[in-house]
Amino acid sequence: MSQPQRSNGAKGEVVLAARNIAKSYGSVHALKGVNFDIHRGQVTTLFGENGAGKSTLMKILSGVAQPSSGEIILDGSPISFSSSTHARECGISIIHQELSLAPNLSVRDNIFMGREIIKGGVVDFAEEERQTRALMEELEEDIDPQTRVEDLRLGQQQIVEIARALSINSRILIMDEPTSALSATEVEVLFKVIHDLTSRGVSIVYISHHLEEALQITNHAVVLRDGNMTAYAERKDIDLEWIVRNMVGENFDLGSPPQGHPFGNVSLSIENLSVPGPSGAAYNAVDRLSLKVRAGEIVCIYGLMGAGRTELLECIAGRLRASGGQVLLEGQDVSGLSIAGRIASGLVLVPEDRQRDGLVQTMTVGSNLSLASIRAFTKGLFTSGHRERDLVNDAIRRVHVKTDGGAASIGSLSGGNQQKVVIGKMLATQPKVILLDEPSRGIDIGAKAEVFKLLAERAKQGLAVIYSTSEVNECLSIAHRIIVMHRGRISAEFGSDVTKEKIMAASGEAVVAH
Ligand SMILES: Nc1ncnc2c1ncn2[C@@H]1O[C@H](COP(=O)(O)OP(=O)(O)OP(=O)(O)O)[C@@H](O)[C@H]1O
Ligand SMILES: [Mg+2]
Repeated sequence: MSQPQRSNGAKGEVVLAARNIAKSYGSVHALKGVNFDIHRGQVTTLFGENGAGKSTLMKILSGVAQPSSGEIILDGSPISFSSSTHARECGISIIHQELSLAPNLSVRDNIFMGREIIKGGVVDFAEEERQTRALMEELEEDIDPQTRVEDLRLGQQQIVEIARALSINSRILIMDEPTSALSATEVEVLFKVIHDLTSRGVSIVYISHHLEEALQITNHAVVLRDGNMTAYAERKDIDLEWIVRNMVGENFDLGSPPQGHPFGNVSLSIENLSVPGPSGAAYNAVDRLSLKVRAGEIVCIYGLMGAGRTELLECIAGRLRASGGQVLLEGQDVSGLSIAGRIASGLVLVPEDRQRDGLVQTMTVGSNLSLASIRAFTKGLFTSGHRERDLVNDAIRRVHVKTDGGAASIGSLSGGNQQKVVIGKMLATQPKVILLDEPSRGIDIGAKAEVFKLLAERAKQGLAVIYSTSEVNECLSIAHRIIVMHRGRISAEFGSDVTKEKIMAASGEAVVAH
């Protein structure tokens, strides 16, 4: 493990600074002259809407991207990073928002990829494995170093990404949305690790759309807006309202569930559904679960990571096989239908992992949006280019995707805007039932409000919505009915007038006061 030189400065002094950094991608001015300081042994959080430029700034400070103009100052002297390896050698590493792991390699190989431990001319796998185990212990995650990354759930993959950054022993660690797929317990462990790191003098940059969460650990708050730094404050001088006001220019209310429309017939009926646990497990991920959702109704499924929510939704959508029970769409058994067949019948899923399942990274925004709804604009044997373009532009407008247009590549969108494309794509198929698995991952508070508004509008027109979340506030803002899942079963069911504490208690979660 490389141990970078540590200069012995005072806690809080500026170790790395961006001076007047600008970055353009063609006509897109992602950063317009930003000043940003990273303080020794402290946490600095970067807040901002989707597309504000947060990841771009972090990529520049970690050598992944080069600025169009401006200066980077490390320990008081200007420096220009030629690559991420160069920045790493200077003690700076980054946990990327979009995970950068090789799915078919083991956890151990992912952590040491490109930095293998060599002993006597060969890779010392035993030592790599020992260090991987130590990292997993530190992160309190029971993952075998030999497990292939693709066999881990998304949150665990995020833990591996974090472990890899920790293994580098950097003195500046940038965390771009590190907790978006983590459970509450995993977040707590990460925060312990962050405390530990800062007390050893490591400087942290933290980015998150979980505003309350970020406020718990940060020392400094910086707000980026449209490529400009618009506000800075120390933690003691600010609160949640300050962040939201500076991020979006007003205070935001996520609203309440749509009222005043009658529910229709049962759109989706799940009867005694079971889904097997991970291979070799003695339990079922979903255990004889029954649920009915009517047209126009929004049902939230709340639960901790591992409660079986993802497995339930993936089974309904046809991605996982049921080991028992039935899924009925408007009374028709869908067991004979493929994923595509279910989409065509009006049953769609916005999956948890947008990188793996939701988007084709090499395609344009437009083709990603229209992928699921090809049928809608195929007339006979010919595809209608006009209709496709209209549909794509409409979807981009509806979900407020910040992009140059349908021809832009998906990879050029900010993380949150990619998520909005996945949601837009599924809504464009005009479904009868939409399943959303943690859809607010990485989207800013304004975008979340837009997505809620969109779902509410569609619900009023008869769409049945199942919305899975681990954020209790989301349930209270959108759901007509809240189902709590615990160990594959429904442990409680509430109306929209329930309290936060009651929901959390039913999930098996300890209620922590914020
Ligand atoms: N490789 C690229 N090519 C073209 N445009 C890009 C590229 N990378 C980023 N952009 C654009 O730069 C702007 C800033 O994006 P960035 O990813 O930094 O936003 P962000 O603040 O991290 O947002 P989010 O909260 O959604 O992650 C966006 O308009 C984005 O589309
Ligand atoms: Mg980002």
